[in-house]
Amino acid sequence: MISTFKHQIDQSPTASHVVANAARILSEHGFIAYHPSSDSRPHGERGFVVRNGTVIAWRNSMRINEHGARIIGAHTDSPGLHIKPRPDMTVLNWQQLHVEVYGGPLLNSWLDRDLGIAGHIVRRDGTTQLFATDHAVARIPQLAIHLDREVNDKGLILNRHQHLSPVWSVDQPSTSFDAWLSELTQCDRGEIASWSAQLFDTQRGEIIGKNNEFFASSRIDNQISCWAAIDALVSVDGDTPMIIALFDHEEVGSESAVGAAGPMLEHVLESLSLHNNGSRFDYLSLLQHSHCMSVDNAHAVHPNYVDRHEMNNAPLINHGVVVKHNANQRYATSASSLLPVVAAAEKAKVSLQTFSSRNNIACGSTIGPIAATRLGIDTVDIGVPQLSMHSIREMCGTKDPLDLVALMRSYLKRS
Ligand code: CO
Repeated sequence: MISTFKHQIDQSPTASHVVANAARILSEHGFIAYHPSSDSRPHGERGFVVRNGTVIAWRNSMRINEHGARIIGAHTDSPGLHIKPRPDMTVLNWQQLHVEVYGGPLLNSWLDRDLGIAGHIVRRDGTTQLFATDHAVARIPQLAIHLDREVNDKGLILNRHQHLSPVWSVDQPSTSFDAWLSELTQCDRGEIASWSAQLFDTQRGEIIGKNNEFFASSRIDNQISCWAAIDALVSVDGDTPMIIALFDHEEVGSESAVGAAGPMLEHVLESLSLHNNGSRFDYLSLLQHSHCMSVDNAHAVHPNYVDRHEMNNAPLINHGVVVKHNANQRYATSASSLLPVVAAAEKAKVSLQTFSSRNNIACGSTIGPIAATRLGIDTVDIGVPQLSMHSIREMCGTKDPLDLVALMRSYLKRS
């Protein structure tokens, strides 16, 4: 089963690719695509809407006003290096690309990797086309130790503007990114109205460890949760309303038209309610009766840095799904919102672990508190434990993701 995830993550270098893969799987399982621009509004037994790097899918919406919905939220984006508009630069005889840091990647991990370029173009007729190179075309070479003698003792300091530009050609001063992109996508330059592109590691995901205990790959945060959510939605049997919301832009704060702080989930919930003749009262009560599981990866305790954890609440790899707690509301979990997740875990025979950060180390946050604040829906923050979060090459266990799918199915089914 982890091999299906490995295949999907290998095929998904950007959030748009994650969403395209999700849309394909949903369509194969009878979910109908609703286009935001069309007259047809979200409704029905199985449907989904896609907008840029975000997808929201639902099942059994006919009874949403009576039952509320079980909602699973996750994010499609990962931190990394995006290619700037007008990216071409030449230094001496090198051709390089201007990049912009997206979110909070571990920058050192991007050095000396074999990098491809992926993204999408928007044609003048309004259609979009995804692209990804099938091999590496760029690299950010690290400075040799002989020219930086103290790096191992004093640490690597990277100037984000000066030190991150990849090289992608030499002695080709007429190299143009736009011309290259036109050739790659087989679309005339004049037909490409705009594009979005980013670097990605061409090394594929791999199962590793003495007994195949671990999975190593790019973008485990948070494509593992997206994969598990879609798998649970299409495979669970159940007739109560269920929704999966996979948002872009979590790594940069979620504040965008398609981020968790935007109106997309609210609009879908209201459309589903109105389509079933719900009144404003019905809509407000459906929010009260709904429940959300915000799923994003958690920090497993690192054996070389156990001092970074509070040991009573330090998650272990392959010991179950992590529930995240933070009294300061960086996570949305509360004593009362936790009950449906505890019940679902018991029924699925999935172990739960807890994470709470040390008081002197600020924890991250997730879409959980944002969605809860916006909609007033009871929310719990959970996720698979992993190491190397925001590295270009992250790592998790091979057992925990399967537990996550089992937990999600039990949660969506409400039994
Ligand atoms: Co994340």
